[in-house]
Amino acid sequence: MSDERINELIKSQPVLRVAPQPRDLNNNGHIFGGWVLSQMDIAGGIMAARVAQGSTATVAIEAMSFLAPILTRDIVSVYAEVERIGNTSVSLRIDVVAERNRGEEHVPVTSGLFTFVALDEAHRPRTIPESSKAKYLKP
Ligand SMILES: CC(C)(COP(=O)(O)OP(=O)(O)OC[C@H]1O[C@@H](n2cnc3c(N)ncnc32)[C@H](O)[C@@H]1OP(=O)(O)O)[C@@H](O)C(=O)NCCC(=O)NCCS
Repeated sequence: MSDERINELIKSQPVLRVAPQPRDLNNNGHIFGGWVLSQMDIAGGIMAARVAQGSTATVAIEAMSFLAPILTRDIVSVYAEVERIGNTSVSLRIDVVAERNRGEEHVPVTSGLFTFVALDEAHRPRTIPESSKAKYLKP
């Protein structure tokens, strides 16, 4: 990830900011990949619900890259950007940046493309309101 992209991200509002705990460590002393994935899914779900204006479910996780380890005492920010809005689905680029040394250093740690499906009350796919395209898609 370029320095320009990192700067762009850290100036924007993360969907989630969280401090991993010692219980989230693996045997290498780094944070578990599964913990990071779970934070990405939670943040993606929050963003997808905004776009879908209601309930969603994760249907696919693609192109996951674990770029660098997350260390204890890092503060983890999860950013979500809309890449595509289909009829019933929305795909989000989710980037995770670890803040280290009390904000002196920002390290991109994980990136992935998550797709969520808007659900109706019967848990079946529902059309995403047209108004969300104008609101969330980049021109
Ligand atoms: C989400 C769910 C209701 C979709 O049902 P479905 O019968 O597969 O629905 P459809 O085939 O009509 O697809 C719905 C949308 O998802 C998209 N989609 C389906 N599978 C996909 C995949 N593997 N990757 C990307 N998009 C996918 C379709 O392209 C479609 O998008 P569009 O309407 O914008 O074109 C169903 O798959 C489900 O309940 N999955 C479990 C969800 C879940 O529990 N997630 C959390 C646990 S990890």
